[in-house]
Amino acid sequence: MNRATTWCSAFVLLLGLTACAGDPPANTGDLTPTVDAGVAAPDAEEEAELDPYEQALEEREIDYSAALRIAALRLTGDLPTLVDIKAVAAASDPQSAYNSKVSDYLADPRFAQTQIAFWQNSFKMGGSPMLDSAGVFAAQLVVENRSYLELLTATSGTCATYTGTTFTPVDCDNGVAVHAGLLTHPGMHAHFMSNMAFRRTRWVQETFACTAFPAELAEEPVALTATALYSAPWEFDSISGTANGGDIDFLDYSSVVCANCHATMNHLAPLLGFFDENGQATAEIAVPKPTEGTPMTAMIDWLPEGETTAWRLGANAADLPALGQAMAADPKIAECAVARAWNWAMGKGDIVDTLSVVPPDVFAAEQAEFINNNYDFKTLLYRVFTSDDFTRF
Ligand code: HEC
Repeated sequence: MNRATTWCSAFVLLLGLTACAGDPPANTGDLTPTVDAGVAAPDAEEEAELDPYEQALEEREIDYSAALRIAALRLTGDLPTLVDIKAVAAASDPQSAYNSKVSDYLADPRFAQTQIAFWQNSFKMGGSPMLDSAGVFAAQLVVENRSYLELLTATSGTCATYTGTTFTPVDCDNGVAVHAGLLTHPGMHAHFMSNMAFRRTRWVQETFACTAFPAELAEEPVALTATALYSAPWEFDSISGTANGGDIDFLDYSSVVCANCHATMNHLAPLLGFFDENGQATAEIAVPKPTEGTPMTAMIDWLPEGETTAWRLGANAADLPALGQAMAADPKIAECAVARAWNWAMGKGDIVDTLSVVPPDVFAAEQAEFINNNYDFKTLLYRVFTSDDFTRF
């Protein structure tokens, strides 16, 4: 049994999926397991045919006391008080008593701190005031019911601080003309500094789209040889190789097809290449390339003449503010945010590192509401923590 299948089966038990894909999907680049969306809840006639997993799901019962413990721990960092436990247990309408406790936790000052920790973990950044400030900014957006998309589009206040109980917006001082949320954050650029800006590129992809590279898939892969399949939607030679002027051969396909990942990566990375190892914006490209003497990368090492930087094929972006806008317009970004909220509530690990991928149907309602509600992550958390899936055991 492969990892995705094992996970999926366990997930059925926990969350009430109606079906699990029997076989993992072919490598589609999209790590989301396929789930049969059309299967309705089994009716009485079909009941006899329920498999043990479905049986277990059917038997789950609402338990607001158990839900309260987990919600309090996640949202405030502490167990619920005895008073709260008793209030929910004795309420004539336990659901409404529980829901109002969740509201209280979301308004509690301790929630700011659990959010800061949540985002610092999600961003894999923390430990110095500059690194910490990215997670603090994200927590501030949540606590103040601002749009999650400001993580990609905010033009000020992205090096926020938190002291006592107060968030203070602080503008990052790293020489950027126009900020674009965390895409121009000095801590991010310093922490994920690497050759050709590929580690920053990876961070942007994994943090906001929730999947590892490859990020894009053609409808029809192209056979380069009998064994080498090119699966990205870009023209094969739209990135650099040694044949079209680059120093690194991204067009090589002798062992792996580099372009499957690098087609997207090389259109994105140049945007992130104009920051030095301290995260300061630079006029010239400031990331080296892994060749003799580690000289700085040249544009031609990523992209041949005439190619434009982009988030995805069909979503060009000339600079980081344009990248932020292009990402904000991509529905996968909202889906990833909802998946992170969901996984946090349900106690899953990091969505990319642990392959804790939630089939999007599971949270379709929460996702639609998140988008309609101006990407308000705090209201999303309320919805998730009061959902049927969270309160049934
Ligand atoms: C499965 C996706 C994938 C494939 C295939 C792939 N790469 Fe990469 N490559 C990445 C990622 C992701 C990074 C950034 C890793 C990091 O720093 O965390 C990277 C980093 C690099 C770097 C920078 C390494 C450094 O010194 O920091 C080079 C150079 C590179 N790739 C070249 C290639 C070449 C050449 C091929 C084909 C032989 C190739 N890659 C195939 C995903 C891929």
